[in-house]
Amino acid sequence: MLKPRFGVRWKSQIHYTDISQIPEFSKYSPTKSISELAPYISTTLCAYPEKSKYVNQQHYYQNKNILEGYYLTKQPNPVSLTQLAQYYDDSTTLTRHKIINSGRFVKEELAIRIAHKIHLLQTLPFNVVNNFHFGQVYESYYNIFDRFRRYPAIRTLEDNQKFADFLRHILSDFNSLNLPHLIMGALECRILELYPQDRMDEVISSLLRARISRRLIVEEHLSITSNFLSGKKKNTLVLGDIFQECSACDYLMGAKKMCENFIKDMYFDGIPLPKFTVDGNKDLKFYFLPPHLKYLLGETLRNSYEATMKEYIRKGLSEPSPITVTIVSNEQSFLFRISDRAGGIPHDDKTIWSFGKSKELARQSLDNFHKLPGLQTVSLYDYMYENATCGPPNQPYKFTSLEPISDTNLPRGISKFDKPLLGLLERSSRYKLGIGLAMCKVYAEYWNGDLTVHSIQGYGTDTVLKLGNLMYHTHKLQLDKV
Ligand SMILES: Nc1ncnc2c1ncn2[C@@H]1O[C@H](COP(=O)(O)OP(=O)(O)OP(=O)(O)O)[C@@H](O)[C@H]1O
Ligand SMILES: [Mg+2]
Repeated sequence: MLKPRFGVRWKSQIHYTDISQIPEFSKYSPTKSISELAPYISTTLCAYPEKSKYVNQQHYYQNKNILEGYYLTKQPNPVSLTQLAQYYDDSTTLTRHKIINSGRFVKEELAIRIAHKIHLLQTLPFNVVNNFHFGQVYESYYNIFDRFRRYPAIRTLEDNQKFADFLRHILSDFNSLNLPHLIMGALECRILELYPQDRMDEVISSLLRARISRRLIVEEHLSITSNFLSGKKKNTLVLGDIFQECSACDYLMGAKKMCENFIKDMYFDGIPLPKFTVDGNKDLKFYFLPPHLKYLLGETLRNSYEATMKEYIRKGLSEPSPITVTIVSNEQSFLFRISDRAGGIPHDDKTIWSFGKSKELARQSLDNFHKLPGLQTVSLYDYMYENATCGPPNQPYKFTSLEPISDTNLPRGISKFDKPLLGLLERSSRYKLGIGLAMCKVYAEYWNGDLTVHSIQGYGTDTVLKLGNLMYHTHKLQLDKV
């Protein structure tokens, strides 16, 4: 047997001190033995999430060949509202051919659009996408991408009918949890300082804009499909049933009522309420998406009501100060100026428009998210593997803003478009999430408008919501906000 010469050591005997050694876990828990701790530690040492269907050993190759090799080479089609309604021919008559073509377009377009968003997530630093919440969004997007790309070709009306059912299912299932996951991910990244906040806000806004477009494309197809099947061969408005003529005053009154109920719920039933006046073009009627209008007016008015009541109590005033909404319109846009005398906004401009806020506010918002009932138990993996056909397990967000609302809960006359948004609006005062203004800005800008606040410290705030006239912009490539 060879013996090492004096002074020479075999390779295996050399101790490489600069290579990480497995830590001595037992020193962290003197009361528990390593064998007791092992089951908890082993999952955290895995290279891939334990039950993930997508992020696994094959993911890289699949991603390279299918997503990068094909879908990312195609650009999403920027679509105008008119094109969406008419599917590239000039008539508003619905035909069998048009419905089938529309189905084909939706299938291909959605796969391309979601592929680009998956790619956006992939370009974020590892620490960011590896965040639990972003991870959930990533899996969910990949799942949707996979389902669209694998969906069989649509050739007949029957195929399209099945595709419509598939679309309805996708709209209502777990991807409605993506919104809270995105925001919680942004808040956690803010707290841990993983990514510059302005860039994170841009990522979130871009994902939200794309989400609006995707849902719009899907809803439009569902709408024209059901119109055609029910014998309605004419697409009467610019778009199926999604856009409706909305009376500005009615919507404001609806928002006022919601805010009053919210304040009563926050304090007590008989509390004095602010005097509410509508001024300006009170007869204004315009085409818009009812849920979006309801959400935008509801959120902005709610801020004024909340601040007014706080000021009333803080200062011990004899009555709450009034809130006035002035409606102004011209051919191109509609403007709602919500004026209150609640002392102004106590935060700087950078903070109020950000999804991450300041570090301190991010902590508070995240705390509130964590208080949402059922949240701790929600994992996309559980849902995908154990309960793939109905809602997520344990009914997350039950009784909160984020509970996905069912069709039966929808107020009459409200289109089914973007239900999670309406759910968000109906949240209890206990769950203050700090995202109202940031969200509204994304939606207002999407519809060629804007949201600004003019705050005078010690006096009050004018919140100005501007919305583009959709009938004026019908030929604009609206759905380019992919
Ligand atoms: N009209 C207003 N008067 C005074 N302060 C306001 C007004 N509007 C907004 N703010 C301030 O701006 C902050 C951010 O508003 P935002 O709507 O984005 O979130 P939030 O109201 O805190 O939470 P959420 O709307 O998610 O429940 C509020 O907390 C409030 O301090
Ligand atoms: Mg708010």
